[in-house]
Amino acid sequence: MLKVGPRLLHSIRFRVLMSKYWIIKSSILEAIMCGIIGYSGPRKTSTVLLEGLRRLEYRGYDSAGIAVGGKSCTDGKLQVVKEVGKISALRAAMPADIDGSWGIGHTRWATHGGVTHANAHPHIDNSGKIAVVHNGIIENHTALKTMLQKKGCVFRTETDSEVIPHLIAQYYKGDLAEAVKAAIQNLEGTYGIACIHLDEPGRIVGARNGSPLIVGVGVGEMFLASDITAMVAYTDKVVYLNDGELVDIDEHSYSIIGKDEQKVERTTNQITWELGSIEKGDYPCHMEKEIFEQPESIARALSGRIDAENATAKLGGLNLDRSRLLNVGRVKIIAAGTSWHAGLVGSYLLEQVARIPAQAELASEIRYRNPVVERDSLWFAVSQSGETADSLFAMREVQRKGATVLGICNVVGSTIARESDGGIYVHSGPEIAVASTKAFTSQLAAFYLFTLLSARMRNMSREEGIHFAGALQSVPGMVAETLKARDHVQRIAKKYCRAKDFLFLGRGILYPIALEGALKLKEISYIHAEGCSAGEMKHGPIALISPEVPSVFLVSDDYLREKTISNIREIKARGGPVIVVGVEGDTETAALADEFIPVPKTDPRFYPFSMVVPLQLFAYFCALELGRDVDQPRNLAKSVTVE
Ligand code: M6R
Repeated sequence: MLKVGPRLLHSIRFRVLMSKYWIIKSSILEAIMCGIIGYSGPRKTSTVLLEGLRRLEYRGYDSAGIAVGGKSCTDGKLQVVKEVGKISALRAAMPADIDGSWGIGHTRWATHGGVTHANAHPHIDNSGKIAVVHNGIIENHTALKTMLQKKGCVFRTETDSEVIPHLIAQYYKGDLAEAVKAAIQNLEGTYGIACIHLDEPGRIVGARNGSPLIVGVGVGEMFLASDITAMVAYTDKVVYLNDGELVDIDEHSYSIIGKDEQKVERTTNQITWELGSIEKGDYPCHMEKEIFEQPESIARALSGRIDAENATAKLGGLNLDRSRLLNVGRVKIIAAGTSWHAGLVGSYLLEQVARIPAQAELASEIRYRNPVVERDSLWFAVSQSGETADSLFAMREVQRKGATVLGICNVVGSTIARESDGGIYVHSGPEIAVASTKAFTSQLAAFYLFTLLSARMRNMSREEGIHFAGALQSVPGMVAETLKARDHVQRIAKKYCRAKDFLFLGRGILYPIALEGALKLKEISYIHAEGCSAGEMKHGPIALISPEVPSVFLVSDDYLREKTISNIREIKARGGPVIVVGVEGDTETAALADEFIPVPKTDPRFYPFSMVVPLQLFAYFCALELGRDVDQPRNLAKSVTVE
């Protein structure tokens, strides 16, 4: 039996510290951001697990596996089925006679190498009676592995996660929860885990530190998963776990043990998502469905939040009183990827309209920059999933320095939503496609609302407020109108999708939209694309221009229009094909461009909503034409829960 006393723990930590380089390196090799599920109840367990994994597949799709206990475990071991590839491969490999009555499952995303059958989860101890699925990184796995090998444990995989079942086995004395509690004391890093033991039918023990874990409460059945989507088909009642907590589940009950080893009482949350919202319906892909849902999703983000009478916005969840709002001297926005682009639009808008200095920063950068937190600054953490590690850790870092952080999140109850000081839910509904679309436009809506509220408390007149609120209210209709360009955009995509490189160019508030257009194209079509400020083009990117490199321009009808047209002429003069997303009726730009995609005329500050739509469609149709897996592009995962 392993005895891990304080001295051994200290020495393991010391070795971790001394070999940090290796640990970081091996962590990257084995970095996993995955989906996990556990089920205990009367249904056919393998079916529930497979169904849950299918819905979690967007979190990772390198390999998948399940472990079940029950009648089909005839050799004194849990039955484990794993397969490299997608859930469909696992489904095909499932033995017909599998008959478990409780179990766990996992879908894996690995950054480099290691996509093998052996490395697929669940991982088991040497007796074959303990199985574990893990989402996160065990940073001290090298030291733990060495120690466990000395105790006689035989390792069969290259993963960091495999130390967990071996550790649990060392502590196991007939009570899985006690063994897990002792085992996790040894773990450094992040984890969301679910564990089962063959000798304890129906019992699942979970623990979380830095990776999400949620209990699904059914009638005579219980679920444990990294994401609500895995269980929404079976229950609409969930309980969120916090870092440092452990949960002990059987088919009838759950109990949560806190960091202080005391039982935690927590109320259940009602989920309002409907099953249909996570299905593709009549669409071939989630991404297309989500693009076309935008008129409704934006309307939901705005719903009940515009105070027409006072020409301002009502944002109930900010948890900031009037004087605190009035005293905001600077806004700082932290986010990653598409959410960062929404933050960039927000920063332009807040400065331009509310006259509050604002900056959007990459979360992965700010965390390590020892950021300055000014006393009058207000911070936003923007995240669709609310689980992005870079954004979450950056948020915690600035909170540590005294920042007030508001979350702009889609996933209700997500970690950022819970740990932020207040915030705005964007209510896009579940976004399943890896490429974010409807969450982006709803994040924009949140920033427009906050800007209206802030501006009306400062410089904006009632008349201007009425105009701004009216324009905001007309956004869903404007986006619906823009979506009518679907077939036109598809024809353009077919014509240009064989190009190897694209430039996306915009100025002012449309610059972030150019960045977003380029990101969408590269992530799902794998075509190289660069987003540039059109003004910056002549400082370097113009060297890329040739007849083989198309440029996609965003042309507003504001004070920057003429300058953008000059930039188009510079490209045309060098033989580069030009696709323009511009304002309907702009015949001059249309005549200059090789292709022209019009959007309805509006207040120029609102073009980010409509102009991003043709770019989403363009990326989508290019990817489709090139035969890409649109919803699950290679190498990506929906929620990036590791750094
Ligand atoms: O869940 P988050 O909004 O925090 O995710 C941030 C990025 O990982 C995400 O926007 C990513 O860039 C998308 N795949 C873009 O489509």
